[in-house]
Amino acid sequence: MCAPEHFAVEYAINPWMDLTVGVDVALAVEQWDRLRHTLVDLGHDVHVLTPQAGLPDMVFAANGAFVVDGTVYGAQFKHEQRAAEAAAHREFYQKHGWHFIAPSETNEGEGDFAYLPEAHGGLILAGHGFRTELPAHAEAQEALGRPVVSLRLVDPRFYHLDVALASIDDGNVAYFPGAFSAASQRVLAQLFPDAVLADDEDALAFGLNLVSDGANVVLNSDATRLAGKLKAAGYTPVPVELAELKKGGGSVKCCIAELRP
Ligand code: ARG
Repeated sequence: MCAPEHFAVEYAINPWMDLTVGVDVALAVEQWDRLRHTLVDLGHDVHVLTPQAGLPDMVFAANGAFVVDGTVYGAQFKHEQRAAEAAAHREFYQKHGWHFIAPSETNEGEGDFAYLPEAHGGLILAGHGFRTELPAHAEAQEALGRPVVSLRLVDPRFYHLDVALASIDDGNVAYFPGAFSAASQRVLAQLFPDAVLADDEDALAFGLNLVSDGANVVLNSDATRLAGKLKAAGYTPVPVELAELKKGGGSVKCCIAELRP
């Protein structure tokens, strides 16, 4: 994770970013810190990156890389405004001895990649259409040695996979079908017949931008119906408020890069 000390909306690279709306940095830090504490209280180790001035989106740590079984596939940001973030993530992984593979294709890390270790023997889901480019899906498959299933995102409000789909345990997902092309919806229905489906309102409240440890699902507090569906499916929803970061176009999952040793 990376504290939003320098969080701002200084450019607009997704439809959620409105340059006329001010950001309350103190509130953003407070909400982010509550998210961090929530994870620690659930028993997780949280490492933090040092926030850098001039990189207002660095709080969205999920975009910096994608890790599967100790191998790290680095990010290469689509927009020049965020390009420098990749080096901070790379430095973290290299310093801690992870096997790091540098990308040569445009991809935004866990923003567009999800890993399901128990689905069909270990499956990577990958989004394209807005940020991560298709050649990066093939590159990730070669880097990580897991089959990659490409899914096309079609609604600019869901510009990353992780705002439209999330793994809720090692083998199942929750998603909003309307964010995907008709063909990709069929692929998802075939692969995940028992998926939890979110409605548009919960998806637009960033409900799917969640993290799960397989039992506890930490999600945006506005996504109340999705929380109910997860509860009915046997999970424990853990709602957190992250309204300030929504101004940058992100929520819970965007703030967290998952380490998979
Ligand atoms: N403002 C950031 C961007 O548009 C938000 C990134 C959100 N991160 C995510 N994993 N969806 O790039």
